[in-house]
Amino acid sequence: MSTGELQTLEAQANDSLAAIADETSLEDWRVNYLGRRSRLTEILRGLSALPLEERKQVGAAANRLREALETALAERRDMLRKRDVQTFIQQGRIDVTLPGRPIPMGRLHPVTQTQRDIVACFEKMGFQAVEGPEVEWDYYNFEALRIPEHHPARDMWDTMWIDYHRDGRMPMLLRTHTSPNQVRVMERQQPPIRVVVPGKCYRYEATDATHEWMLTQVEGLAVDEGISMADLKGTLYEFAQQLFGQERRVRFRCDYFPFVEPGADMSIDCFVCNGEGCSTCKGAGWIEIMGAGMVHPEILANVGYDPERYTGFAFGMGVERVAMLRHDIEDIRLFYQNDLRFLEQF
Ligand code: DAH
Repeated sequence: MSTGELQTLEAQANDSLAAIADETSLEDWRVNYLGRRSRLTEILRGLSALPLEERKQVGAAANRLREALETALAERRDMLRKRDVQTFIQQGRIDVTLPGRPIPMGRLHPVTQTQRDIVACFEKMGFQAVEGPEVEWDYYNFEALRIPEHHPARDMWDTMWIDYHRDGRMPMLLRTHTSPNQVRVMERQQPPIRVVVPGKCYRYEATDATHEWMLTQVEGLAVDEGISMADLKGTLYEFAQQLFGQERRVRFRCDYFPFVEPGADMSIDCFVCNGEGCSTCKGAGWIEIMGAGMVHPEILANVGYDPERYTGFAFGMGVERVAMLRHDIEDIRLFYQNDLRFLEQF
């Protein structure tokens, strides 16, 4: 074995490579000169059998040759590909003026989009967005909100319970609303408070076009000295206009929620018929958007606030419902079926 043979091999390889004009012959060439059964591989494998001096010399030369051939191969391949593209273009087989293939783009789920719009609207009014746990203690979901066990108001909020108890008390559940965060926020900070809390809620529901067992809510809470029902109305009026149009009007009617006094439901005049009565508002001219009210003084006292000094308002709305109204979606179940034909429309 001599380095002379390697030189001959190199010359041969380079000559034949220079004559190659297509990818198949190029692959044959690679197998021939660099493949497992090539002479070069054979030489490299046989190195260990050579006497030390020769091994060093031949080894260095053979390895250099392998690198040189690999580089030459890559260059040739590159050259051929460029040439092919050139011919394609010249022959008009590639129309470089055609628009590219669109890359499918991800986007936010319609409920997330609406949730973000709602939160952003309140952020502009000085509210801060916070989050709370989806698995909640009975205490925060019910007790602390003045909904004791066996209270009829619990009927509205049937839910999924977690098989976990601490000291045999405080059972856990999937929260039925975002309202527990009113108490959680007040427990950890002092007034003034202005927060919105978006998040998933769960209810044990027979699902239909307007009910899902999982839903998204945005809760709101403002507590400070001198907060009145007028602040509640002004804030929610602004919200209605931001989300449903400047010409919107709002209506507040008495409603009962154990954690507010007085409690109200807030409606907007129908943005489809402007209050005339149509299928969207089911002939009523008004569409209910959320529950709201003045935070019950007992709740303020329970978290250690002085109810003589502080007052507050709270509200809570379903995001799916708002999204359905905005996009004219008829069935809430569409949101979570993950059918791209539906989702891609938003
Ligand atoms: N948590 C109530 C529900 O899920 C909605 C609600 C009503 C929230 C009145 C409030 C409120 O903050 O003041 O139906």
